[in-house]
Amino acid sequence: MSSKRVLITGASGLLGRKLLSEFSENGWDALGLAFTRATGKLRKVDIRDEKQVDDVITKFQPHFVVHSAAERRPDVVEKDEAATEILNVTSTANISRLVREHGGSLLHISTDYVFDGTKPPYKPSDEPNPLNKYGKSKLAAEQSVTRNFPSAIILRVPILYGDVESLDESAVTVLFKSVRDVSKEAKMSDYEVRYPTDVADVAFVCRQLAERRMSDSSIKGVFHWSGPDCMTKYQMAVAMATTFGMSSGHLVPDKEPSKSAPRPYNSHLDSSDLQEMGIGRKTPFRDGIVRVLKDFVPK
Ligand SMILES: NC(=O)c1ccc[n+]([C@@H]2O[C@H](COP(=O)([O-])OP(=O)(O)OC[C@H]3O[C@@H](n4cnc5c(N)ncnc54)[C@H](OP(=O)(O)O)[C@@H]3O)[C@@H](O)[C@H]2O)c1
Repeated sequence: MSSKRVLITGASGLLGRKLLSEFSENGWDALGLAFTRATGKLRKVDIRDEKQVDDVITKFQPHFVVHSAAERRPDVVEKDEAATEILNVTSTANISRLVREHGGSLLHISTDYVFDGTKPPYKPSDEPNPLNKYGKSKLAAEQSVTRNFPSAIILRVPILYGDVESLDESAVTVLFKSVRDVSKEAKMSDYEVRYPTDVADVAFVCRQLAERRMSDSSIKGVFHWSGPDCMTKYQMAVAMATTFGMSSGHLVPDKEPSKSAPRPYNSHLDSSDLQEMGIGRKTPFRDGIVRVLKDFVPK
């Protein structure tokens, strides 16, 4: 068995799958947890059940835990705040306490939605002010981590894209469904500003942080990571179309703010702290999205 063990929650999800491959391909003994999609080597653990989490930590004795599992869809959270509180907040509080008690280190994944988007770019020390219930739940989760395990790492990231099982899996790749269907006019938000970020880069940052932390316990607290390109969803969709030589004439920019759960206008995360530590990699959106979408391009 490898000497470094990492436990990853949410390992069946968009980011978790990449975390699992990034760690296991780079010398770590990685165990991934999942729930409804616990197939293959993934271990089925309902993180809402403290006993199941305690059991897996007791048996695997991870040196490092990356907590990625969460309900991350703002419109789902608006409709079921109570279930989100249990999954995003109570489970995170339990995980952080259990990891501390067992003597491991923890990296908790959070979001740019803890900010209101009025004063970008945001440093890790800036005051959060979430606008929607998802952002509030993730801020409460962060606070529970800080309370239960003050030397844990919290990494905030913005809208993610990466290798998907279906286009619906990410708020970025789902746009490609409308891009492909040139027969239908499609309205796309051209208001809120986003920084689409490749999960491969986030997983790389997490591994680098974990490796630093193994030899330097002063690595703790809140960090930010962000992709390099500033784009609205409309601009992402046009970039997808032009990258694959497809028409974008049917895509219609919508200049109005989001009508569903309120979203921050521009919650750009300043990632200079990590860059100054020599951590990170910023894949340009056009390069990352070609890799991710190439199998979904109509023949
Ligand atoms: N996606 C984004 O654009 C984005 C942006 C900023 C921050 N984030 C944060 O990044 C992290 C990862 O997001 P993601 O997009 O990878 O999420 P995702 O694809 O929706 O995956 C969610 C994961 O949580 C697991 N999960 C859900 N309920 C569970 C339960 N009761 N017990 C155990 N596991 C459970 C799911 O397992 P099963 O599928 O097996 O049930 C899945 O692996 C989250 O913390 C999210 O808040 C995401």
